[in-house]
Amino acid sequence: MVSVLAYVFRVVHMLSMALLLVEVLAPLLLPPRPQGPFSSKVFAVAGALAVLSGVINSVLLAPSKNMLARDAALWKVVLYVKLGVVLLLFTPLSKLLPRDLEAAKVPAMLLLVLLASWMRFFREGSARTRASKAR
Ligand code: HEM
Repeated sequence: MVSVLAYVFRVVHMLSMALLLVEVLAPLLLPPRPQGPFSSKVFAVAGALAVLSGVINSVLLAPSKNMLARDAALWKVVLYVKLGVVLLLFTPLSKLLPRDLEAAKVPAMLLLVLLASWMRFFREGSARTRASKAR
């Protein structure tokens, strides 16, 4: 059951991430075009889904149960960095920031993808080490 949920929320995570990438990259790559009536709502929902699916994935992956304790602590620090960046740049909280952070969105997306991919391999490596020590 957990693996089905983990699969579903990973798919939701990837789809919301893809939508946010479109939001960030389209103005740089495509000629200006009128925004459809739902564009801003779609991107707001994508930001919310990225956070929701990310939090659910974090719980389902149960790092404390599956990774070495020191590695799990580092994995969580990186997770909080990701969460903070997303909350500040891709949710309505971004409106509270004093200056326009549009320019920060492209490097932020790159950072998030780099961190996320590292998190996966780091977690899997740590889980393998923990499992082999337990044998
Ligand atoms: C725009 C925002 C985000 C982007 C671009 C992004 C990107 C990604 C990508 C590409 C992966 C897959 C990594 C892989 O399987 O190799 C991933 C996984 C993950 N993301 Fe995100 N993410 C975002 C937001 C968030 C947020 C807000 C959270 C949490 C609060 C989060 C938590 C996670 C977790 C826990 C995983 C699984 C990591 C693992 O397998 O160890 N993400 N993310």
